[in-house]
Amino acid sequence: MAKEHLIIFDTTMRDGEQSPGAAMSKEEKLRIARQLERMHVDVIEAGFPASSDGDFESVQAVARAIKDSTICGLARANEKDIQRCGEAIRVAQSPRLHTFIATSPIHMEKKLRMEPTQVIDQAVRAIRWASAYTNNIEFSPEDAGRSDIDFLCRIIEQVIKAGATTINIPDTVGYTLPEQFGSLIRTLRERIPNADKVVWSVHCHNDLGLAVANSLAAVVNGARQVECTINGLGERAGNASLEEVVMAIRTRQDIFMCDTQIDATQIVPASKLVSGITGYPVQPNKAVVGANAFAHESGIHQDGVLKHRETYEIMSAESVGWLNNRLSLGKLSGRSAFKSRLLELGIELPSEESLNAAFKRFKDLADKKREIFDEDLQALISEEEIDLVENERWRLVSLTAHSETGELPYAKLVVAEIGGQEHVCQSDGSGPVDATFKALESVCHSEATLLLYSVNNITSGTDAQGEVTVRLSKAGRIVNGQGADTDIVVASAKAYINALNKLFSKLQRLNPQGS
Ligand code: KIV
Ligand code: ZN
Repeated sequence: MAKEHLIIFDTTMRDGEQSPGAAMSKEEKLRIARQLERMHVDVIEAGFPASSDGDFESVQAVARAIKDSTICGLARANEKDIQRCGEAIRVAQSPRLHTFIATSPIHMEKKLRMEPTQVIDQAVRAIRWASAYTNNIEFSPEDAGRSDIDFLCRIIEQVIKAGATTINIPDTVGYTLPEQFGSLIRTLRERIPNADKVVWSVHCHNDLGLAVANSLAAVVNGARQVECTINGLGERAGNASLEEVVMAIRTRQDIFMCDTQIDATQIVPASKLVSGITGYPVQPNKAVVGANAFAHESGIHQDGVLKHRETYEIMSAESVGWLNNRLSLGKLSGRSAFKSRLLELGIELPSEESLNAAFKRFKDLADKKREIFDEDLQALISEEEIDLVENERWRLVSLTAHSETGELPYAKLVVAEIGGQEHVCQSDGSGPVDATFKALESVCHSEATLLLYSVNNITSGTDAQGEVTVRLSKAGRIVNGQGADTDIVVASAKAYINALNKLFSKLQRLNPQGS
Protein backbone atom coordinates (compact mmCIF):
# COMPACT_ATOMS: atom_id res chain seq x y z
CA MET A 1 0.00 0.00 0.00
CA ALA A 2 1.33 3.47 -0.91
CA LYS A 3 2.49 5.41 2.08
CA GLU A 4 0.95 8.76 2.91
CA HIS A 5 3.13 11.85 2.67
CA LEU A 6 4.40 13.44 5.87
CA ILE A 7 5.05 17.15 5.38
CA ILE A 8 8.28 18.43 6.89
CA PHE A 9 7.93 22.05 7.98
CA ASP A 10 11.27 23.53 8.95
CA THR A 11 11.24 26.45 11.38
CA THR A 12 15.00 26.83 11.95
CA MET A 13 14.85 30.37 10.60
CA ARG A 14 11.88 31.40 12.75
CA ASP A 15 11.62 29.42 16.00
CA GLY A 16 15.30 28.48 15.74
CA GLU A 17 16.13 32.14 15.42
CA GLN A 18 14.43 32.75 18.77
CA SER A 19 17.39 31.00 20.48
CA PRO A 20 19.55 33.55 22.28
CA GLY A 21 22.01 35.12 19.87
CA ALA A 22 20.86 33.09 16.85
CA ALA A 23 19.51 36.03 14.82
CA MET A 24 20.44 35.51 11.18
CA SER A 25 21.21 38.00 8.44
CA LYS A 26 19.50 37.91 5.03
CA GLU A 27 22.52 36.23 3.42
CA GLU A 28 22.62 33.60 6.16
CA LYS A 29 18.92 32.88 5.77
CA LEU A 30 19.33 32.53 2.02
CA ARG A 31 22.10 29.99 2.48
CA ILE A 32 20.09 27.96 4.94
CA ALA A 33 16.99 28.16 2.75
CA ARG A 34 18.92 26.87 -0.28
CA GLN A 35 20.20 23.95 1.76
CA LEU A 36 16.68 23.16 3.01
CA GLU A 37 15.39 23.28 -0.56
CA ARG A 38 18.19 20.93 -1.62
CA MET A 39 17.08 18.61 1.18
CA HIS A 40 13.50 18.69 -0.22
CA VAL A 41 11.93 20.27 2.84
CA ASP A 42 8.25 20.84 1.99
CA VAL A 43 7.67 24.08 3.91
CA ILE A 44 10.29 26.58 5.09
CA GLU A 45 9.21 29.04 7.77
CA ALA A 46 11.57 31.85 6.86
CA GLY A 47 10.84 34.28 9.68
CA PHE A 48 8.49 36.70 11.37
CA PRO A 49 8.30 39.68 8.99
CA ALA A 50 6.70 42.08 11.48
CA SER A 51 9.65 41.67 13.86
CA SER A 52 11.93 44.07 11.97
CA ASP A 53 12.52 45.57 8.54
CA GLY A 54 15.55 43.30 8.27
CA ASP A 55 13.49 40.18 8.81
CA PHE A 56 10.84 41.38 6.36
CA GLU A 57 13.59 41.69 3.74
CA SER A 58 15.00 38.27 4.64
CA VAL A 59 11.65 36.53 4.30
CA GLN A 60 11.00 38.32 1.02
CA ALA A 61 14.44 37.40 -0.33
CA VAL A 62 13.90 33.74 0.60
CA ALA A 63 10.41 33.85 -0.94
CA ARG A 64 11.93 35.14 -4.20
CA ALA A 65 14.87 32.73 -4.32
CA ILE A 66 13.26 29.41 -3.41
CA LYS A 67 11.18 27.63 -6.01
CA ASP A 68 10.76 24.04 -4.84
CA SER A 69 9.61 24.54 -1.22
CA THR A 70 6.62 26.46 0.12
CA ILE A 71 7.73 29.64 1.90
CA CYS A 72 5.91 30.48 5.10
CA GLY A 73 5.95 33.59 7.28
CA LEU A 74 4.66 33.90 10.84
CA ALA A 75 2.23 36.59 11.99
CA ARG A 76 0.42 37.24 15.25
CA ALA A 77 -3.35 37.35 14.83
CA ASN A 78 -3.51 41.08 14.17
CA GLU A 79 -4.04 43.01 10.96
CA LYS A 80 -0.68 44.78 10.92
CA ASP A 81 1.38 41.60 11.39
CA ILE A 82 -0.66 39.77 8.78
CA GLN A 83 -0.30 42.58 6.22
CA ARG A 84 3.45 42.69 6.75
CA CYS A 85 3.74 38.93 6.49
CA GLY A 86 1.46 38.77 3.45
CA GLU A 87 3.59 41.37 1.65
CA ALA A 88 6.77 39.44 2.38
CA ILE A 89 5.57 36.03 1.21
CA ARG A 90 3.37 36.98 -1.73
CA VAL A 91 6.37 36.92 -4.12
CA ALA A 92 6.90 33.21 -3.42
CA GLN A 93 6.01 30.60 -6.01
CA SER A 94 4.16 28.80 -3.21
CA PRO A 95 3.44 31.08 -0.21
CA ARG A 96 1.93 30.16 3.16
CA LEU A 97 0.85 32.46 5.97
CA HIS A 98 1.00 31.11 9.52
CA THR A 99 -0.97 32.98 12.16
CA PHE A 100 -1.39 32.16 15.83
CA ILE A 101 -3.07 33.20 19.03
CA ALA A 102 -2.78 31.74 22.52
CA THR A 103 -5.60 29.51 23.76
CA SER A 104 -4.53 28.26 27.21
CA PRO A 105 -6.29 29.81 30.23
CA ILE A 106 -3.02 31.19 31.60
CA HIS A 107 -2.00 32.81 28.30
CA MET A 108 -5.47 34.24 27.57
CA GLU A 109 -5.85 35.68 31.04
CA LYS A 110 -2.32 36.83 31.89
CA LYS A 111 -0.74 37.57 28.50
CA LEU A 112 -3.55 38.50 26.12
CA ARG A 113 -6.00 39.73 28.79
CA MET A 114 -8.82 38.53 26.54
CA GLU A 115 -11.96 36.48 27.11
CA PRO A 116 -12.11 33.12 25.29
CA THR A 117 -14.88 34.34 22.94
CA GLN A 118 -12.76 37.38 22.00
CA VAL A 119 -9.89 35.03 21.19
CA ILE A 120 -12.12 33.01 18.84
CA ASP A 121 -13.33 36.19 17.10
CA GLN A 122 -9.77 37.46 16.70
CA ALA A 123 -8.57 34.13 15.28
CA VAL A 124 -11.40 34.09 12.72
CA ARG A 125 -10.65 37.70 11.73
CA ALA A 126 -6.98 36.77 11.34
CA ILE A 127 -7.81 34.00 8.88
CA ARG A 128 -9.93 36.44 6.84
CA TRP A 129 -7.11 39.01 6.74
CA ALA A 130 -4.67 36.29 5.72
CA SER A 131 -6.88 35.10 2.87
CA ALA A 132 -6.29 38.42 1.08
CA TYR A 133 -2.73 37.15 0.45
CA THR A 134 -2.97 33.38 0.01
CA ASN A 135 -5.32 30.48 0.45
CA ASN A 136 -2.56 28.44 2.08
CA ILE A 137 -3.20 29.45 5.70
CA GLU A 138 -1.92 27.77 8.83
CA PHE A 139 -3.41 28.43 12.24
CA SER A 140 -1.82 27.61 15.62
CA PRO A 141 -3.57 27.76 18.98
CA GLU A 142 -0.50 28.68 21.00
CA ASP A 143 0.07 26.64 24.16
CA ALA A 144 -2.43 24.04 22.93
CA GLY A 145 -0.72 21.48 25.18
CA ARG A 146 -2.15 23.31 28.21
CA SER A 147 -5.44 24.43 26.62
CA ASP A 148 -8.91 23.16 27.44
CA ILE A 149 -9.90 20.52 24.88
CA ASP A 150 -13.48 21.80 24.51
CA PHE A 151 -12.21 25.30 23.84
CA LEU A 152 -9.67 23.97 21.32
CA CYS A 153 -12.46 22.14 19.49
CA ARG A 154 -14.55 25.33 19.33
CA ILE A 155 -11.83 27.65 18.05
CA ILE A 156 -10.40 25.16 15.55
CA GLU A 157 -13.82 24.41 14.04
CA GLN A 158 -14.33 28.16 13.51
CA VAL A 159 -10.92 28.83 11.93
CA ILE A 160 -11.38 25.90 9.55
CA LYS A 161 -14.75 27.36 8.53
CA ALA A 162 -13.03 30.71 7.97
CA GLY A 163 -10.47 29.15 5.59
CA ALA A 164 -7.50 27.73 7.52
CA THR A 165 -5.98 24.82 5.61
CA THR A 166 -3.43 23.53 8.15
CA ILE A 167 -4.07 23.28 11.88
CA ASN A 168 -0.89 23.19 13.89
CA ILE A 169 -1.03 22.02 17.50
CA PRO A 170 1.89 23.47 19.46
CA ASP A 171 3.16 22.12 22.74
CA THR A 172 4.61 25.56 23.30
CA VAL A 173 6.16 24.90 26.70
CA GLY A 174 7.12 21.26 26.16
CA TYR A 175 4.80 20.07 28.90
CA THR A 176 2.96 17.10 27.43
CA LEU A 177 3.93 13.43 27.45
CA PRO A 178 3.89 11.30 24.28
CA GLU A 179 0.78 9.27 25.04
CA GLN A 180 -1.12 12.36 26.13
CA PHE A 181 -0.06 14.38 23.08
CA GLY A 182 -0.89 11.55 20.68
CA SER A 183 -4.31 11.23 22.22
CA LEU A 184 -4.85 15.01 22.01
CA ILE A 185 -4.31 14.85 18.24
CA ARG A 186 -6.57 11.82 17.88
CA THR A 187 -9.34 13.43 19.96
CA LEU A 188 -9.24 16.71 18.05
CA ARG A 189 -9.42 14.87 14.72
CA GLU A 190 -12.34 12.77 15.96
CA ARG A 191 -14.35 15.50 17.65
CA ILE A 192 -14.07 18.46 15.28
CA PRO A 193 -16.74 18.03 12.57
CA ASN A 194 -14.71 19.63 9.74
CA ALA A 195 -11.37 18.07 10.83
CA ASP A 196 -11.04 16.20 7.54
CA LYS A 197 -10.78 19.49 5.60
CA VAL A 198 -7.28 20.30 6.91
CA VAL A 199 -3.81 18.90 7.38
CA TRP A 200 -2.99 18.29 11.05
CA SER A 201 0.39 19.50 12.14
CA VAL A 202 2.39 19.49 15.38
CA HIS A 203 5.02 21.78 16.84
CA CYS A 204 6.69 20.39 19.96
CA HIS A 205 9.18 22.03 22.29
CA ASN A 206 11.83 20.06 24.09
CA ASP A 207 11.67 21.29 27.68
CA LEU A 208 11.33 17.73 28.99
CA GLY A 209 13.41 16.21 26.19
CA LEU A 210 10.22 14.84 24.59
CA ALA A 211 9.79 16.98 21.48
CA VAL A 212 10.65 14.20 19.03
CA ALA A 213 8.76 11.51 20.98
CA ASN A 214 5.67 13.75 21.15
CA SER A 215 5.87 14.55 17.43
CA LEU A 216 6.12 10.85 16.56
CA ALA A 217 3.18 10.00 18.83
CA ALA A 218 1.19 12.65 16.97
CA VAL A 219 2.14 11.13 13.60
CA VAL A 220 0.93 7.72 14.77
CA ASN A 221 -2.36 9.46 15.62
CA GLY A 222 -2.84 11.12 12.25
CA ALA A 223 -0.68 14.26 12.17
CA ARG A 224 0.66 14.71 8.64
CA GLN A 225 2.93 17.69 9.16
CA VAL A 226 5.75 17.95 11.70
CA GLU A 227 7.34 21.28 12.52
CA CYS A 228 10.98 20.89 13.40
CA THR A 229 14.40 22.51 13.22
CA ILE A 230 17.89 21.53 12.19
CA ASN A 231 19.86 20.39 15.26
CA GLY A 232 16.71 20.91 17.37
CA LEU A 233 17.47 24.63 17.59
CA GLY A 234 14.70 26.80 19.03
CA GLU A 235 13.24 28.75 21.90
CA ARG A 236 14.62 27.58 25.32
CA ALA A 237 15.40 23.82 25.06
CA GLY A 238 14.55 23.93 21.38
CA ASN A 239 12.15 22.19 19.01
CA ALA A 240 11.86 18.66 17.68
CA SER A 241 14.98 18.05 15.65
CA LEU A 242 14.36 17.52 11.94
CA GLU A 243 17.07 14.90 11.57
CA GLU A 244 15.71 12.77 14.41
CA VAL A 245 12.10 12.96 13.23
CA VAL A 246 13.01 12.17 9.61
CA MET A 247 15.33 9.29 10.47
CA ALA A 248 12.96 7.77 13.04
CA ILE A 249 10.17 7.72 10.47
CA ARG A 250 12.44 6.35 7.76
CA THR A 251 14.12 3.74 9.93
CA ARG A 252 10.83 2.50 11.40
CA GLN A 253 8.71 2.18 8.28
CA ASP A 254 7.35 -0.98 9.89
CA ILE A 255 5.46 1.30 12.33
CA PHE A 256 4.62 4.48 10.41
CA MET A 257 1.93 4.74 7.73
CA CYS A 258 3.74 7.65 6.10
CA ASP A 259 7.16 8.81 4.93
CA THR A 260 8.84 12.12 4.11
CA GLN A 261 10.41 13.23 0.82
CA ILE A 262 13.57 14.40 2.58
CA ASP A 263 16.91 13.67 0.89
CA ALA A 264 18.61 12.45 4.06
CA THR A 265 22.10 12.71 2.58
CA GLN A 266 21.72 16.49 2.93
CA ILE A 267 21.14 16.27 6.71
CA VAL A 268 24.74 16.47 7.94
CA PRO A 269 25.67 19.36 5.60
CA ALA A 270 22.55 21.20 6.84
CA SER A 271 23.48 20.54 10.45
CA LYS A 272 26.99 21.90 9.93
CA LEU A 273 25.73 24.93 8.08
CA VAL A 274 23.22 25.86 10.79
CA SER A 275 25.71 25.22 13.57
CA GLY A 276 28.32 27.40 11.84
CA ILE A 277 25.91 30.25 11.17
CA THR A 278 24.25 30.35 14.59
CA GLY A 279 27.29 29.48 16.68
CA TYR A 280 25.38 26.65 18.35
CA PRO A 281 27.72 23.65 18.41
CA VAL A 282 26.28 20.14 18.04
CA GLN A 283 26.91 17.90 21.05
CA PRO A 284 29.11 14.93 20.03
CA ASN A 285 26.57 12.35 21.21
CA LYS A 286 23.60 14.01 19.46
CA ALA A 287 21.58 11.48 17.46
CA VAL A 288 22.22 11.41 13.70
CA VAL A 289 24.36 14.56 13.44
CA GLY A 290 26.67 14.33 16.48
CA ALA A 291 30.33 13.57 15.70
CA ASN A 292 30.06 10.29 17.65
CA ALA A 293 26.70 9.20 16.27
CA PHE A 294 28.37 6.54 14.12
CA ALA A 295 31.64 6.05 16.05
CA HIS A 296 32.12 2.60 17.56
CA GLU A 297 34.47 2.75 20.50
CA SER A 298 34.25 -0.66 22.14
CA GLY A 299 36.19 -3.51 20.55
CA ILE A 300 33.17 -5.79 20.57
CA HIS A 301 31.11 -3.24 18.65
CA GLN A 302 33.92 -2.53 16.18
CA ASP A 303 34.35 -6.22 15.56
CA GLY A 304 30.60 -6.68 15.05
CA VAL A 305 30.32 -3.77 12.62
CA LEU A 306 33.28 -5.04 10.59
CA LYS A 307 31.65 -8.46 10.32
CA HIS A 308 28.20 -7.12 9.55
CA ARG A 309 27.35 -3.43 9.80
CA GLU A 310 23.79 -3.95 10.98
CA THR A 311 24.93 -5.71 14.16
CA TYR A 312 25.32 -2.30 15.77
CA GLU A 313 24.02 0.24 13.25
CA ILE A 314 20.36 0.88 12.47
CA MET A 315 21.16 3.35 9.69
CA SER A 316 24.34 4.10 7.80
CA ALA A 317 26.52 7.17 8.23
CA GLU A 318 26.48 7.68 4.45
CA SER A 319 22.69 7.72 4.35
CA VAL A 320 22.57 10.92 6.44
CA GLY A 321 25.46 12.63 4.69
CA TRP A 322 28.46 11.67 6.79
CA LEU A 323 31.65 10.68 5.04
CA ASN A 324 31.04 12.84 2.01
CA ASN A 325 33.29 15.60 3.28
CA ARG A 326 35.03 15.82 -0.02
CA LEU A 327 38.54 16.96 -0.49
CA SER A 328 37.55 20.07 -2.30
CA LEU A 329 40.34 22.12 -3.73
CA GLY A 330 44.07 22.64 -3.38
CA LYS A 331 46.63 25.37 -3.45
CA LEU A 332 46.81 25.38 -7.24
CA SER A 333 43.06 25.56 -7.87
CA GLY A 334 42.02 28.58 -9.87
CA ARG A 335 39.27 31.13 -9.44
CA SER A 336 36.84 29.36 -11.76
CA ALA A 337 37.30 25.98 -10.02
CA PHE A 338 36.72 27.80 -6.73
CA LYS A 339 33.59 29.48 -8.04
CA SER A 340 32.13 26.29 -9.49
CA ARG A 341 32.77 24.30 -6.29
CA LEU A 342 30.95 27.05 -4.35
CA LEU A 343 28.03 26.78 -6.77
CA GLU A 344 27.95 23.01 -6.26
CA LEU A 345 27.72 23.72 -2.53
CA GLY A 346 24.81 26.07 -3.22
CA ILE A 347 26.81 29.19 -2.45
CA GLU A 348 26.34 32.12 -4.78
CA LEU A 349 28.26 35.21 -3.76
CA PRO A 350 26.43 38.48 -4.32
CA SER A 351 29.09 40.22 -6.43
CA GLU A 352 32.39 39.77 -8.27
CA GLU A 353 33.95 41.82 -5.52
CA SER A 354 32.94 39.40 -2.79
CA LEU A 355 33.97 36.44 -4.97
CA ASN A 356 37.41 38.01 -5.33
CA ALA A 357 37.64 38.63 -1.59
CA ALA A 358 36.57 35.04 -0.84
CA PHE A 359 39.09 33.72 -3.39
CA LYS A 360 41.84 35.68 -1.70
CA ARG A 361 40.85 34.17 1.65
CA PHE A 362 40.91 30.74 0.01
CA LYS A 363 44.44 31.31 -1.30
CA ASP A 364 45.60 32.54 2.11
CA LEU A 365 44.10 29.44 3.72
CA ALA A 366 45.63 27.14 1.10
CA ASP A 367 49.03 28.57 2.01
CA LYS A 368 48.52 27.45 5.61
CA LYS A 369 46.57 24.25 5.12
CA ARG A 370 47.50 21.49 2.67
CA GLU A 371 44.03 20.10 2.02
CA ILE A 372 40.92 22.23 1.76
CA PHE A 373 37.62 20.46 2.41
CA ASP A 374 34.06 21.58 1.71
CA GLU A 375 33.69 22.48 5.40
CA ASP A 376 36.67 24.83 5.09
CA LEU A 377 34.97 26.53 2.17
CA GLN A 378 31.72 26.88 4.12
CA ALA A 379 33.61 28.50 7.01
CA LEU A 380 35.46 30.78 4.66
CA ILE A 381 32.21 31.96 3.10
CA SER A 382 30.68 32.52 6.54
CA GLU A 383 33.67 34.76 7.22
CA GLU A 384 32.98 36.63 4.00
CA GLU A 385 29.37 37.14 5.07
CA ILE A 386 30.45 38.14 8.54
CA ASP A 387 32.32 40.98 6.86
CA LEU A 388 29.07 42.05 5.23
CA VAL A 389 27.19 42.36 8.55
CA GLU A 390 25.14 45.52 8.42
CA ASN A 391 26.68 48.35 10.36
CA GLU A 392 29.97 46.54 10.81
CA ARG A 393 32.04 48.73 13.04
CA TRP A 394 35.30 46.95 13.83
CA ARG A 395 37.70 44.88 11.75
CA LEU A 396 40.82 42.98 12.76
CA VAL A 397 43.93 44.23 10.99
CA SER A 398 46.67 42.26 12.74
CA LEU A 399 47.39 40.36 15.91
CA THR A 400 50.52 39.30 17.78
CA ALA A 401 50.14 36.98 20.75
CA HIS A 402 52.89 35.77 22.98
CA SER A 403 52.87 32.93 25.49
CA GLU A 404 55.84 31.38 27.16
CA THR A 405 56.09 29.05 30.14
CA GLY A 406 56.54 31.09 33.32
CA GLU A 407 55.69 34.39 31.60
CA LEU A 408 52.42 36.33 31.59
CA PRO A 409 50.82 35.89 28.15
CA TYR A 410 50.05 39.05 26.22
CA ALA A 411 48.41 40.12 22.98
CA LYS A 412 48.81 43.18 20.80
CA LEU A 413 46.25 43.94 18.11
CA VAL A 414 45.56 46.51 15.45
CA VAL A 415 41.84 47.02 14.84
CA ALA A 416 40.26 49.36 12.33
CA GLU A 417 37.14 51.30 13.04
CA ILE A 418 35.20 51.27 9.75
CA GLY A 419 35.34 54.68 8.14
CA GLY A 420 37.69 55.78 10.89
CA GLN A 421 41.15 55.29 12.23
CA GLU A 422 43.19 52.26 13.21
CA HIS A 423 43.78 51.56 16.89
CA VAL A 424 46.59 49.67 18.53
CA CYS A 425 45.66 47.90 21.74
CA GLN A 426 47.43 45.47 24.01
CA SER A 427 46.94 43.63 27.23
CA ASP A 428 48.21 40.73 29.25
CA GLY A 429 45.90 38.02 30.48
CA SER A 430 45.67 34.55 31.95
CA GLY A 431 46.22 33.15 28.45
CA PRO A 432 46.61 34.56 24.93
CA VAL A 433 42.85 34.46 24.29
CA ASP A 434 42.08 36.25 27.56
CA ALA A 435 44.75 38.84 26.73
CA THR A 436 43.25 39.30 23.24
CA PHE A 437 39.74 39.92 24.60
CA LYS A 438 41.03 42.34 27.23
CA ALA A 439 43.01 44.24 24.60
CA LEU A 440 39.91 44.48 22.37
CA GLU A 441 37.80 45.71 25.27
CA SER A 442 40.37 48.42 26.04
CA VAL A 443 39.56 49.98 22.67
CA CYS A 444 35.97 48.93 21.94
CA HIS A 445 34.56 49.48 25.46
CA SER A 446 31.52 47.27 24.94
CA GLU A 447 31.40 46.27 28.61
CA ALA A 448 29.47 43.20 27.49
CA THR A 449 29.51 40.02 29.55
CA LEU A 450 31.14 36.97 28.00
CA LEU A 451 28.61 34.14 28.33
CA LEU A 452 30.29 31.47 26.25
CA TYR A 453 33.58 30.76 24.56
CA SER A 454 33.89 27.55 22.56
CA VAL A 455 36.27 26.12 19.96
CA ASN A 456 35.45 23.42 17.41
CA ASN A 457 37.71 22.01 14.77
CA ILE A 458 36.16 22.29 11.32
CA THR A 459 38.01 19.29 9.88
CA SER A 460 40.49 16.91 11.51
CA GLY A 461 44.25 17.25 11.81
CA THR A 462 46.46 19.70 13.65
CA ASP A 463 46.42 22.08 10.68
CA ALA A 464 42.61 22.20 10.78
CA GLN A 465 40.81 25.49 11.10
CA GLY A 466 39.40 26.17 14.53
CA GLU A 467 35.93 27.67 14.61
CA VAL A 468 35.41 29.84 17.66
CA THR A 469 32.06 30.94 19.05
CA VAL A 470 31.80 33.84 21.45
CA ARG A 471 28.50 34.72 23.12
CA LEU A 472 28.18 38.21 24.56
CA SER A 473 25.37 39.79 26.49
CA LYS A 474 24.64 43.43 27.11
CA ALA A 475 21.50 45.09 28.46
CA GLY A 476 19.42 41.96 27.94
CA ARG A 477 20.61 41.47 24.37
CA ILE A 478 22.55 38.32 23.52
CA VAL A 479 24.65 37.83 20.39
CA ASN A 480 26.88 35.05 19.06
CA GLY A 481 30.03 35.82 17.11
CA GLN A 482 32.03 33.37 15.01
CA GLY A 483 35.51 33.33 13.62
CA ALA A 484 37.57 30.67 11.90
CA ASP A 485 41.30 30.41 11.36
CA THR A 486 44.09 27.87 11.56
CA ASP A 487 45.36 30.01 14.48
CA ILE A 488 42.96 29.70 17.42
CA VAL A 489 43.91 33.09 18.88
CA VAL A 490 43.19 34.83 15.57
CA ALA A 491 39.90 32.89 15.28
CA SER A 492 39.04 34.04 18.82
CA ALA A 493 39.75 37.69 18.01
CA LYS A 494 37.62 37.45 14.85
CA ALA A 495 34.77 35.84 16.81
CA TYR A 496 34.89 38.50 19.52
CA ILE A 497 34.90 41.30 16.93
CA ASN A 498 32.03 39.64 15.04
CA ALA A 499 30.00 39.51 18.26
CA LEU A 500 30.79 43.18 18.97
CA ASN A 501 29.67 44.13 15.45
CA LYS A 502 26.41 42.27 15.98
CA LEU A 503 25.90 44.04 19.31
CA PHE A 504 26.17 47.33 17.47
CA SER A 505 24.13 46.20 14.45
CA LYS A 506 20.41 46.19 13.76
CA LEU A 507 20.11 42.40 13.80
CA GLN A 508 17.58 42.70 16.60
CA ARG A 509 14.26 40.94 16.35
CA LEU A 510 11.01 41.09 18.20
CA ASN A 511 9.99 37.74 19.65
CA PRO A 512 6.51 36.90 18.28
CA GLN A 513 5.54 35.12 21.47
CA GLY A 514 6.91 37.76 23.78
CA SER A 515 3.81 39.91 23.61
O1 KIV B 1 5.80 27.29 20.26
C1 KIV B 1 4.85 27.85 19.71
O2 KIV B 1 3.70 27.86 20.19
C2 KIV B 1 5.11 28.58 18.48
C3 KIV B 1 3.93 29.05 17.71
C4 KIV B 1 4.12 30.41 17.16
C5 KIV B 1 3.58 28.03 16.67
O3 KIV B 1 6.24 28.73 18.09
ZN1 ZN C 1 7.63 27.28 19.10
